[in-house]
Amino acid sequence: MWGGRFEGGPSAIMREINASIPFDKALWRQDIAASKAHVAMLGAQGIVSAGDAATIAGGLDQVAAEYEANGVPENWDLEDIHMTTESRLAELIGAVAGRLHTARSRNDQVATDFRLWVRDACDSAIAGLKALQVALVNRAGEHAGSIMPGFTHLQTAQPVTLGHHLMAYYEMTARDVSRFADARVRMNRSPLGAAALAGTGFPIDRAMTAAALAFDGPTANSLDSVSDRDFALDYLMAASQCALHLSRLAEEFIIWASQPFGFVSLPDSLSTGSSIMPQKKNPDAAELVRGHSGRIIGSLTSLMITMKGLPLAYSKDMQDDKPPVFEAASLLTLCLAAMTGMVEGATFRTTRMRAAAELGYATATDLADWLVRQANIPFREAHHITGAAVKLAESRGIALDQLPLGDLQAIDPRLTQDVYAALSVEASVAARSSHGGTAPIEVGKRVAEARTALGLE
Ligand code: ARG
Repeated sequence: MWGGRFEGGPSAIMREINASIPFDKALWRQDIAASKAHVAMLGAQGIVSAGDAATIAGGLDQVAAEYEANGVPENWDLEDIHMTTESRLAELIGAVAGRLHTARSRNDQVATDFRLWVRDACDSAIAGLKALQVALVNRAGEHAGSIMPGFTHLQTAQPVTLGHHLMAYYEMTARDVSRFADARVRMNRSPLGAAALAGTGFPIDRAMTAAALAFDGPTANSLDSVSDRDFALDYLMAASQCALHLSRLAEEFIIWASQPFGFVSLPDSLSTGSSIMPQKKNPDAAELVRGHSGRIIGSLTSLMITMKGLPLAYSKDMQDDKPPVFEAASLLTLCLAAMTGMVEGATFRTTRMRAAAELGYATATDLADWLVRQANIPFREAHHITGAAVKLAESRGIALDQLPLGDLQAIDPRLTQDVYAALSVEASVAARSSHGGTAPIEVGKRVAEARTALGLE
């Protein structure tokens, strides 16, 4: 393809280090689509004859059919998917194939193909996220009133509902969806026609190729068009943020599935056993989601470091943009599916969760709030009085509501029999009905909104 000015061929090392076909063959559909859009435009503009354009388009269809049937051949001498396709096209239709590369370079070609691929990856991430959201919302609706301990510092803090806890992940995934959608809007400009770096002297119609590939229009600067990989970084940023959320959910399931917690039993289909300890059911899928999130975040770092020192315009370093994106995308798909299955199939041990919520003085804040409301005591003072009650209960190894009224009144005479009603975990969650709070009624409202947003109602 470029042998004219060379006397010797590349060494074995050169061929090996140069070849991107082992991984960029994944771009074959995008490469064919972009070539077809390009040649249709060349024909429409009279840059190649209508007959040649039709021959080339037909040949590209034939190459695509071969790839579909037999896969993409991997010949390092042909470097990448672009050369592989063009060389097969020449075998099939002869010298006219050489007209396809008029007013185009592999630099704008790869930028176009890769954008198309990453654009699809955004769509598939959004679809995977939506499936997870459906699972979260279904389980949250089931458990809008199931009480569990809420934690800060992983110490029992206040009772919450399981539905509220699951809906926290719905909110995170909703932001993840919007990040992929935003990235998609930003990347949806066509670099095709930027050619090598400076544009072309041929009378091309960039708007036409952009429209044919469902871009919103052409990019504005040819140098930027072939040098920009922000779109891939935007995708990886969104993927990393999403993977981080999945990892936190996975981590919670791992903790909850441990015997001392016993809050959840994960589906057998997403767990493994031990070859030596017969009793074991290990949360391997959740652990691998936690692990894979590190690799996804690593792919973002990897591409940022590839790009950060590159002068304009194209440098071959940029060929390394694809493996991290491909790896992140396939890991993300897997992680989303695993977490969806886990949320759908988890058996929540609600009795155990409720019992845990009653330990650890989770309703101490309710006692303090009661003093503020009923006795008009400033919150700081109420906090102090409540602390003394917790200390006394703890020294006796009993719950707050097991302290006799006499003992409570010895701490503060303004405490009356009424306070006991405020100390139950049900009263505690029901009271937290501020917008976005854990009260079952609030959780139910948010679940209903989410169901509507997801098109479930
Ligand atoms: N295979 C290359 C890549 O993935 C595209 C080719 C551009 N090559 C070049 N020498 N200008 O980035």
